[in-house]
Amino acid sequence: MENTPQIELTSVHKYYNQGQENEVHALKDVNLSIARQEIVCLRGPSGSGKTTLLCLIGCVFGPSSGRAAVGGKQLQRMPDEFLTKYRRETIGFIFQHFNILPHLSVEKNVALPLLPLGISPREQKSRVGVLLERFGIEHRKNFKASQISGGELQRVAIARALINDPPIILADEPTAHLDSRRSHELMEYLVSLRQDGKTIILTSHDPLVTEHAGVDRIVDVQDGCIVSGSR
Ligand SMILES: Nc1ncnc2c1ncn2[C@@H]1O[C@H](COP(=O)(O)OP(=O)(O)OP(=O)(O)O)[C@@H](O)[C@H]1O
Ligand SMILES: [Mg+2]
Repeated sequence: MENTPQIELTSVHKYYNQGQENEVHALKDVNLSIARQEIVCLRGPSGSGKTTLLCLIGCVFGPSSGRAAVGGKQLQRMPDEFLTKYRRETIGFIFQHFNILPHLSVEKNVALPLLPLGISPREQKSRVGVLLERFGIEHRKNFKASQISGGELQRVAIARALINDPPIILADEPTAHLDSRRSHELMEYLVSLRQDGKTIILTSHDPLVTEHAGVDRIVDVQDGCIVSGSR
């Protein structure tokens, strides 16, 4: 099992609005294999398909064709309800646009992934507290998400992605709104999670990410194709 890839995409295509006038062929014959505990960075121009690739790995949707195995499960065979459950248990997703609920407090936003798990409110508070402190946003815990800065929001999104202790962490441009000190801290933290057995996939243009010594591999994406680093 140790040598089995954590993520394996084989001849994957992804279309948006398939068969319609506004069809987009967003991923074209993608082959990508990522091992457990690898730290991989997807790099490429805007619109090249990085977020789409991350969503596929993150079980947000299955491929239009081809095979996608994540954690040993073949996604293309799974109904949506399964994908949702599997995503909750397996994936920590730091979204490019955060997907944070603006009217909920910082604390409640971070606790959201714990709700379906039936964890006591006390335990929830304690787990959330550890991460808020870790990312320097403890003092904002009772603020509504709509009332904090972009960098703080990004750290809320990061804390929420980690709260379930998922084996696979996906981070879409995670340093886009952070200053260089926070970006460096975040990278150090993400890289340290490898020791806990985590697999981490990032997208970024930021040299603080792409040139970080902890990143094992850069995968270049261009116009829906992987052009280097697929292995
Ligand atoms: N929901 C959607 N419906 C239709 N087309 C989409 C959708 N999401 C993305 N696309 C298109 O698919 C292509 C790939 O988009 P994607 O968001 O994966 O790019 P990206 O590499 O993440 O870009 P960026 O660096 O700007 O975040 C783009 O042409 C985009 O316009
Ligand atoms: Mg993107």
